[in-house]
Amino acid sequence: MSKILTGIQASGKPHLGNLLGAILPAVELSKKAENTSFLFIADLHSMTTVKDAETMISNTKAVAKVWLACGFDHEANYIYRQSRLAGFHTELMWYLSCLTPFPMLANAHSFKDKSDSLSDVNAGLFTYPVLMASDILLYNADFVPVGKDQKQHLEITRDMAATFNRTYGECFVEPKSLINESVMTIPGIDGRKMSKSYGNHIDIFLPEKELYKTIKKIETDSTPLEEPKNPDTCLVFTMYSLLASDEQIAEMRNNYTNGGYGYGHAKKALLEVILDSFSEQRKQYDYFTANEGELEGILQKGEAKAKLIAEENISKARKLIGFA
Ligand code: TYM
Repeated sequence: MSKILTGIQASGKPHLGNLLGAILPAVELSKKAENTSFLFIADLHSMTTVKDAETMISNTKAVAKVWLACGFDHEANYIYRQSRLAGFHTELMWYLSCLTPFPMLANAHSFKDKSDSLSDVNAGLFTYPVLMASDILLYNADFVPVGKDQKQHLEITRDMAATFNRTYGECFVEPKSLINESVMTIPGIDGRKMSKSYGNHIDIFLPEKELYKTIKKIETDSTPLEEPKNPDTCLVFTMYSLLASDEQIAEMRNNYTNGGYGYGHAKKALLEVILDSFSEQRKQYDYFTANEGELEGILQKGEAKAKLIAEENISKARKLIGFA
């Protein structure tokens, strides 16, 4: 049996990049009988940017709804809010912090990127990879499906597990990242990495009209409608290719190269392929919005189950450190 674990920050409603990079691959893995999955809402992590309770609550619900809307079997697996098990996660975080060389965190790409682009560069951003390692090691995950941007965080996690085991004795599994290299990093509507913090994301759960409004904002060049266009340098085509069938992709490629096909046509086709690919998920998302009591019940059950595993593993670590 393999343990699969991954989390999504509660920094907004999950977007197309989160879905293709992590959520859908993780839910697919959870459906294999030989796997047990821990798919959670990283609400403690989102404290680095979210500073009010109302937003935190609605973002947390949004992430939980997306996990369930994408077909995660919460009965057979584990779904939980990290904050409801905060004692365990932050306790392990401290243990790992004391084994982590300062330069390892100072040189992390994501810290460097964020500290260059955000005005609020808090200590939470700096120690973020240690909390992430705790999330993973606490449940002894074997595999962590993530987008490419999290690769270094997984390397840091493996390093921390090995250091702990070497220092105190065998305790933690060294987890492997599962990165779908064919999906890579999904671009946002401005061509940079799709990210809530850049405001360039596509929220596939929006009502159709609003979704279309976002799609219309995808940046394109100014080649006139009648002229041939290069699909390989076009964001709309790139996004369409992530979801459409091979035949649909080939047809759009021809349309681009033949000319007489505008970016407006391509954007309409992209809207349709999104609505088509995610029709069930959109329905389920709305179901949980209308049934938040049920959502809360599912989370509380998941948290009670996850607590048993977290408790067992942290006790083992405490004993090895000399705290039992
Ligand atoms: P977060 O919330 O930023 O993103 C969640 C997942 O979505 C992937 N992702 C993308 N994949 C492809 N293209 C994109 N544009 C894109 N944007 C985001 C991310 O790689 C990630 O897999 N630190 C994590 C949350 C976390 C976590 C964990 C993950 C906390 N603890 C333990 C795994 C295990 C993060 O910020 O994800």
